[in-house]
Amino acid sequence: MTQKKILTVIGARPQIIKAAALSRAIQTHFSEQIEEILVHTGQHYDENMSAVFFEELGIPKPDYNLAVGSGSHGHMTAAMLSGLEAILEKEKPAAVVIYGDTNSTIAAALAAAKIHIPVVHIEAGLRSFNKAMPEEINRIAADHMSTLLFVPTQAGIANLTKEGFELVHQTKARIDAPHVYHCGDIMYDNSLYFAQLSDQKSRIITELELNQTPFVLCTIHRDSNTDDPVALESIFRALLALVEQTNMRVILPLHPRTRGKIQTLLNPSFQEKLSAETRIQLIDPAGFLDMIALEKNARMIVTDSGGVQKEAYFFAKPCVILREQTEWVEVVEAGAAILTGSDAQKILEAATQLLSQTIQTDASIFGNGRAAEFICEKIIADL
Ligand code: UD1
Ligand code: UDP
Repeated sequence: MTQKKILTVIGARPQIIKAAALSRAIQTHFSEQIEEILVHTGQHYDENMSAVFFEELGIPKPDYNLAVGSGSHGHMTAAMLSGLEAILEKEKPAAVVIYGDTNSTIAAALAAAKIHIPVVHIEAGLRSFNKAMPEEINRIAADHMSTLLFVPTQAGIANLTKEGFELVHQTKARIDAPHVYHCGDIMYDNSLYFAQLSDQKSRIITELELNQTPFVLCTIHRDSNTDDPVALESIFRALLALVEQTNMRVILPLHPRTRGKIQTLLNPSFQEKLSAETRIQLIDPAGFLDMIALEKNARMIVTDSGGVQKEAYFFAKPCVILREQTEWVEVVEAGAAILTGSDAQKILEAATQLLSQTIQTDASIFGNGRAAEFICEKIIADL
């Protein structure tokens, strides 16, 4: 059998983590059928936003790094598009694999589709129905340029059906007749796999003296929260009130975007108040094994992250979602998470409600932990 060459494009932190699942499945089960070329756009580049994951998750070193770095949406996407096109012309892969909804995703979809290379979109079909989110535009456009769409949830399948995608495949997959599969979430694969490694290797709970200490894990990086001083201050006011009310600690691994915005957007007296509250600890972005340990040991999670709200569900933790909508509707429908946006009062009310009740979770709605193997099988069969 001839090997199929696929070219995987990653760039932002969650994509690097997601790619670990597929690379692991290829290395373990499909190395004779699939050759994977890895391209890092360089969208995320700090050691703790990129390199740390390659080391701890066993992801192969990228074959190319476009080193695009930070910038406006247009600047980043254009630089990636042009860099990727050149690599695609040279490598001539059988398909380009993309993840999620970042600027790296849309750039890769566009680069490949325009030169007739099939696009494989992993995490297809998700919708927040809020086009003010740059991610919503990226994910809709990427889906409509794809030839294979791997959908993590039933809600994602329903979204694609409404947009005219056929679930019955009459012909060989092509961009005008894409194949859509409900396959579960590769991040569920990863959470199961790396939770064991995290138990063995992570020391963060001891290092932060969190043994036997109830704490809230928080992450904030969505532009609607970080780039609006009113929203950003409102979230921190809620955290200050929460520690006052519960005496719990808050551990907040800080995205570099948010670190910058705290310094430039929050007024100095509020910043002082925040640093004086020792129960709220702003730490550097965590590695994935540490992040899993924090999630597993937290009493509650407060986040605007797509990935973290889902991991809260995987580990049966209540979650306050600092957004007005979510594309992971199942976690809210299950009663395990509450959407609050950035309103301090709503955040506090949701936290109080979630802390007073036992939540029920059923992680099987995110698959059986073998989504990556399913995806590999379909890539081999369909392309
Ligand atoms: C991006 C994605 C978002 C995803 C998030 C994951 C888009 C439009 N957004 O948002 O969907 O949820 O990644 O974390 O693609 N920065 C650094 N060092 C880094 C990376 C970023 O300092 O290694 C700072 C820069 O100031 C940069 C800012 O963070 O301007 C934002 O980075 P960017 O990649 O544009 O967007 P994210 O907010 O990270
Ligand atoms: N994550 C991590 N360290 C952190 C924060 C997040 O390893 O300090 C992981 C998290 O566990 C999840 C992924 O990064 O798997 C989510 O990425 P992020 O929140 O940056 O983006 P989103 O999922 O919102 O696109």
